[in-house]
Amino acid sequence: MKLQDKVAVITGAAQGIGREYALRFAQEGAAVALLDRRIDQAREVEKEIAAQGGQAAAFDADVTSEKRMEQIAGEVAGKYGRIDALINNAALYYDIDLADSTIEYGRKVMDVNVFGVLTATWAVVPYMIKQRSGSIINIASNAAWPGIAARGAKFTTITETNVRRAYYYGLSKAAVVHLTQAMAIDYGAYNVRVNALVPGVVLTEATLKSLPEEFIGVLRNQALLGRTMEPRDMTGAAVFLASDDSALMTSQLLVVDAGRKLW
Ligand SMILES: NC(=O)c1ccc[n+]([C@@H]2O[C@H](COP(=O)([O-])OP(=O)(O)OC[C@H]3O[C@@H](n4cnc5c(N)ncnc54)[C@H](O)[C@@H]3O)[C@@H](O)[C@H]2O)c1
Repeated sequence: MKLQDKVAVITGAAQGIGREYALRFAQEGAAVALLDRRIDQAREVEKEIAAQGGQAAAFDADVTSEKRMEQIAGEVAGKYGRIDALINNAALYYDIDLADSTIEYGRKVMDVNVFGVLTATWAVVPYMIKQRSGSIINIASNAAWPGIAARGAKFTTITETNVRRAYYYGLSKAAVVHLTQAMAIDYGAYNVRVNALVPGVVLTEATLKSLPEEFIGVLRNQALLGRTMEPRDMTGAAVFLASDDSALMTSQLLVVDAGRKLW
C-alpha cells in the first residue's frame, strides 16, 4: 500500500473523479476526509470505504466558506493527528448552469473553482507547515489552455452562452495552474509540495451531461492510446503525487489524458 498511515482531505469527494480518488486513497491505506456539499452522497462513500475496511469521514462542506474549511481542517487534524495530502477537486462542473452566462455567474464559477482552492489550502496548510511535510494536489484541466475550449466548441452549437461558459471554466482552471506554481514557491521552504493534475476528458456523469456524443467519439479516435478515460484512470497519478515516490516533485503539471493533443 502506497499511502499507509497518511491522512488525506479530498474536496468534492461525493461523486465523479473525487469519489474515485477517495476510494483509491483508502485502498492504499490512507484515512480520508470526504468534503462535499452533497453530504448524503459523501456519507455513502464513507460507508463504502468502511465496508472495504478503510477509514473515512464525511463532512458537509462548502469550499467557498473560509470559516467552515478551517473548522473541518481542525476536526480532521484533531481526529487523525495530521494532514498529509489535500486534493482540491471540488468545482462547478456537473453543477454548471447551462443556461446562465451572466458575468455574475462567471464570478460564481471563480468563487468555487478558484477561491475554493484558496480557502481549502489556507485551512489545511498550517498543519502541513507545522509537520514540515505535505502534498497539495490541485485539479486543473486541459480547458486552462484556450485552444482546447475552441476545438470543443466546434462540436457544440456556438452560442454566446457556450463561449462565455468556456471562458469562465477555462479562466478558472488557468487560475488553478497559476495558484499551483505560486503556492509551490511559497510553501517549498516548509517541505510542502504543490502540484496540479491536468485531466483530459474523463467520462464522468458531468461530462456525459455536457458533451455531445459525437465529440466523445472524436476523443476516442484522437487519443494516442485509442480510448477515453474513466474516473478511476485518474487515481494512479493522484496516489503518486500524494506518496513519497514524488517527494522531490513540486510546481509540476501532470497531464493524464490518454495521449490527446488537441492543439
Ligand atoms: N470530468 C472531466 O472530464 C474533467 C476534466 C478535467 C478536469 N476535471 C475536473 O476534475 C474535478 C472533478 O470532475 P468531475 O467530473 O468528477 O465533476 P463533478 O461536478 O461530478 O464533481 C465535483 C464535485 O464537487 C462538489 N462541489 C461543487 N461545488 C462545491 C462546493 N462549493 N463545495 C464543496 N463541494 C462542491 C460537487 O458536489 C461534486 O461532488 C473538477 O475539478 C473538474 O473541473 C474534470
